[in-house]
Amino acid sequence: MSARPLLLGCVALAGCGGARNQSALAPEGPVAGEVASLWWFALAVATAVYLATVGALAWAAWRARRRAARGEATDPARDHRRMTVAVSVGGALTVVILLGFFVRDLAAARALRIPVTRDHVKIRVTGHQWWWSIEYPHPDPSQRVTDANELHVPTGIPVLVEVTSHDVIHSLWAPNLAGKKDLIPRYVDTLWFQVDRPGVYGAQCAEFCGHQHAKMALPVVAHAPRDYAGWLARARRPAAEPSDSMARRGREIFLSGPCALCHAITGTPAGSRVGPELTHLASRRTLAAGTLPNGKGNLAAWILDPQRIKPGTAMPATALPPADLEALLAYLGGLQ
Ligand code: CUA
Repeated sequence: MSARPLLLGCVALAGCGGARNQSALAPEGPVAGEVASLWWFALAVATAVYLATVGALAWAAWRARRRAARGEATDPARDHRRMTVAVSVGGALTVVILLGFFVRDLAAARALRIPVTRDHVKIRVTGHQWWWSIEYPHPDPSQRVTDANELHVPTGIPVLVEVTSHDVIHSLWAPNLAGKKDLIPRYVDTLWFQVDRPGVYGAQCAEFCGHQHAKMALPVVAHAPRDYAGWLARARRPAAEPSDSMARRGREIFLSGPCALCHAITGTPAGSRVGPELTHLASRRTLAAGTLPNGKGNLAAWILDPQRIKPGTAMPATALPPADLEALLAYLGGLQ
């Protein structure tokens, strides 16, 4: 065996390190559990059908050789009768198996119906090329939260995610939590799941949506209910005041430069929704929809030359003198 496939295999496995294994076969809630059990059922039936077919073929070949070895005379009428019986039984079994799939599928569809319960949270996710905007609705407009590129949910109760798209068709897939749901422009659909235990689960755009489709990930952060309430309360707060003169200068650079043309920061005059909301940017795990781990160095690289990191992104390169960049990073780094 050459070293190359082995090495590629190691790289593929290493890619899963850190975050929880992004796999439909490791369900973390009832919806993904139903999908996984449907998959195991289909695999078991398909395996049984495959083994029975290969077994019958081997048996037929062995019998033909034995007959030839014994020099038995062929009997076309008898062979025809046997063939008729074999084809009829095979056809009937196929119908029974397909009916079995149909019934199992209906049962799964029933189990996956959107639950009608008052006790749930509703969140809206809108796909963009190539990032996600997330809204946490509330009857009181002052309590609504707009965020981006990270989905926060409570554990233990159904989460109804209303999905739509701003531009082309995207698809939201958190394999450990639920099946895929397409995000279609001018159409709102609902995906639901329930998470059993707190943790960070990977989600990914699962519909080819252009050049940077692969760099359109969405960490799903599941909190215990009390922690979720705390997170939501923090998310509702306007942006933190700059803590020192450097960060204050950074805010001026943000508001007077090109940044404010596309991004919103609650509590400041910046209110554009062209790009991702930045009010609590520093508390996010990643930058640019899962493209880079969040940190000062990566943020600097992203601001200076996003086209090198994610070619085609709507974010233009921003040439800044080092002192201005440092001040801007100080301001953005304080947006907890
Ligand atoms: Cu969005 Cu692929």
